Amino acid sequence: MEKEQAMQAFENAFGKTAEELFTAAGRINVIGEHVDYCGGKVFPAALNLRCNIYGRKTGENKIRLAFRGIEGVVELDINALDSYRALKIGNYQAGVAYVMQQKGVVLVGCDLYYDCSVPFGSGLSSSAAIEVATAVALYEYAGVPYDKVEIALLSQKAENEYAGVNCGSMDQFASAMGKKDHAVLLDCSTLSYEYVPLKLGDYRLVVANCNKPHNLVESKYNVRRQEVETALKTIRTVKEISCLAELSPKEFAEVKYLLSGVVAKRAEHVVMECDRVNKAVSALKSGDLEELGRLLNESHYSLRDLYEVTGKELDTLSALARKETECLGARMIGAGFGGCVISIVKKDAVDGFIRRVGTAYAEEIGYKASFYETSIEDGITVSTL
Ligand code: GLA
Repeated sequence: MEKEQAMQAFENAFGKTAEELFTAAGRINVIGEHVDYCGGKVFPAALNLRCNIYGRKTGENKIRLAFRGIEGVVELDINALDSYRALKIGNYQAGVAYVMQQKGVVLVGCDLYYDCSVPFGSGLSSSAAIEVATAVALYEYAGVPYDKVEIALLSQKAENEYAGVNCGSMDQFASAMGKKDHAVLLDCSTLSYEYVPLKLGDYRLVVANCNKPHNLVESKYNVRRQEVETALKTIRTVKEISCLAELSPKEFAEVKYLLSGVVAKRAEHVVMECDRVNKAVSALKSGDLEELGRLLNESHYSLRDLYEVTGKELDTLSALARKETECLGARMIGAGFGGCVISIVKKDAVDGFIRRVGTAYAEEIGYKASFYETSIEDGITVSTL
């Protein structure tokens, strides 16, 4: 949506003019999937697909919310922020406001209009973008200095404790801390991070949504978390570790006999995926894109066979991508069970890739995939209108 249109929509909803624009990014993850909550390293990057919030401070006791494409205004009473958990729209915002208040921030009322270009349910972290952008807006209006890492962590807390999704720290961190043309190598056990230029030479990252209807992702996600918790507890009976990511593949091989069934498979994915992240970062730094592509493929196979979070749609879409000669590798990203696939594709071949993969996917699955034009951008932005 153009800025002018959004400003008009703000005025229609609230009868005044918006004064500030706050944005936070959706994200991709190059590699390091389902390891953030196991203390592993992840490698996400912030996108041009974003949550844009047009705002104005009112100083009243309410935070009023309006949304692109949705009629009406949702009102959050600053003195009753604990009571909006069941809201279908506005619960993420209420969660962030609630967590900030619990931290001692004295919130100041405002009107916020949401224009989110991160597709919902796409695995590109629309929820993190909404949470992070909301936290920025509320901090700015409260006149309290803030730190972007703190914003990421409180947004994660809101998602865990208010929205009830037990996610790790990757999405909110990428949304807040992303940097133009870089991926963020984040160590989720220490939160130390490094920006690595996402230099792909003649290649591009193509982002495709398999468009599988979203269902029960949160509950399946929470089950995976319990399974790796079980693995960790069991391994700790013989070895002192604080998280699964601490185990090298060799160390894991020595304790694997303790685990069985799905718990063994889940833990193996985590350990091997952590190893792949290190290899992928080295490959990218040394310009070995073929190796990077190979690691992306391996990551997908592991998410399919060991972690079991792919499904027919993501498997079909990524397999069709891999069949293309100009594609170096492809894998699902995010929580899985639906959502997006990223592929590394030769620049000149991107149009043909999209056409052929798109057609074959629709034939096999019965509905279309969506391909997005993406670029890697900064996480948070704040501007005066
Ligand atoms: C979701 C969660 C993240 C992460 C990924 C899987 O996006 O929000 O914390 O666990 O799934 O890597």
